[in-house]
Amino acid sequence: MSGIYTAAAAPNIALVKYWGRRDDSDLNLPYNSSVSVTLHQDTVKTVTSVALDPRIKRDAIYVDGKLQDSTRSDEKVRLILGVVRDMKSMGNSEDGVLVVSRNNFPAGSGLASSASGGAALVFALNEALSLHLDDTSLSVLARRISGSACRSIFGGFVRWKRGTSPGGEDSYAEQIAPPSHWKLIDVIGIVSASRKKVSSSAGHLITPRTSTLYRSRLELAERNAESAIRAIEEKDFERLAEITMADSNNMHATMLDSWPPIKYMNEKSWRVVDAVHEMNSRYGKSVAAYTFDAGPNAHVITTPKYEREVEDVVGDALGEGARVLASRIGNSPKLIGRKDSLIDDSLKPLQI
Ligand code: DP6
Repeated sequence: MSGIYTAAAAPNIALVKYWGRRDDSDLNLPYNSSVSVTLHQDTVKTVTSVALDPRIKRDAIYVDGKLQDSTRSDEKVRLILGVVRDMKSMGNSEDGVLVVSRNNFPAGSGLASSASGGAALVFALNEALSLHLDDTSLSVLARRISGSACRSIFGGFVRWKRGTSPGGEDSYAEQIAPPSHWKLIDVIGIVSASRKKVSSSAGHLITPRTSTLYRSRLELAERNAESAIRAIEEKDFERLAEITMADSNNMHATMLDSWPPIKYMNEKSWRVVDAVHEMNSRYGKSVAAYTFDAGPNAHVITTPKYEREVEDVVGDALGEGARVLASRIGNSPKLIGRKDSLIDDSLKPLQI
């Protein structure tokens, strides 16, 4: 079994957030359920090639042209190599695997490259190893790379149920509605492209252990997930907008309440918050909703009717040098290339 398989996947943005891991093993089991939309691969995506060949002596991963260190105790690389190893053993393969992954957006900037990267990788390996795993199994495998990656296995509107099993078999994502259900837009304001100081993997453990507000978040987040799903099913934008903004604020409050405090939003992020509230009060209803992940970049969800205005509002709030992009809701990962042999011109990008 040798060849190169290339898959593309998009990141997702959570409207009800995952924050806090209930285990400190390698399973990425969340304390609460979450709800997200998968973004469109035309705007943001990770493209991942996997090359399988007996001549590859050691599994290796390149991200955006850089070999990821597997000898240092790099947590993420260790998790990825663990999933690669397990998928190879499911396919009875002893070949070496070379993973080459590229993002068209800055990694580590709060745009979840690990979500799209994890989803693209397990999708490509499933093809390369002819495993024929279903989406639920792929979601469980992607979750082990990065929690939020389990949601990027599906397009459209997605729920990740927390599950209760200690082994994580019941903690996976599922589609609530396809992208065509409701044409929402995510206006992304890139505030900073630099890496975050506290990784989400570290934050997921620090906050539940140290924040006194966290306990109340858990009940709220579970309720928010149910209400967000109802709002999505009923296409009730105002309801969804209010849940989205409140849930983001609540998560960031527990981050700040952690010890030592974890601060991801910066002054520019808060300018977007103010500008969105100002826009909503001008209309006398919620026509846009901000949400922030583990970084300062703004995601503002809106409908096509208000898209241009939201882009202007976000651009003005961020000021000079800001980058604003808009993404529709997109589909699940897809296979975009397949070569049966490694002896090919396509080896070139692998010789980094
Ligand atoms: C704030 O899935 O990036 O974006 O499992 O450690 O890779 P790891 O964490 P990750 O955490 C995402 C946190 C969040 C909220 C969300 O996407 O639900």
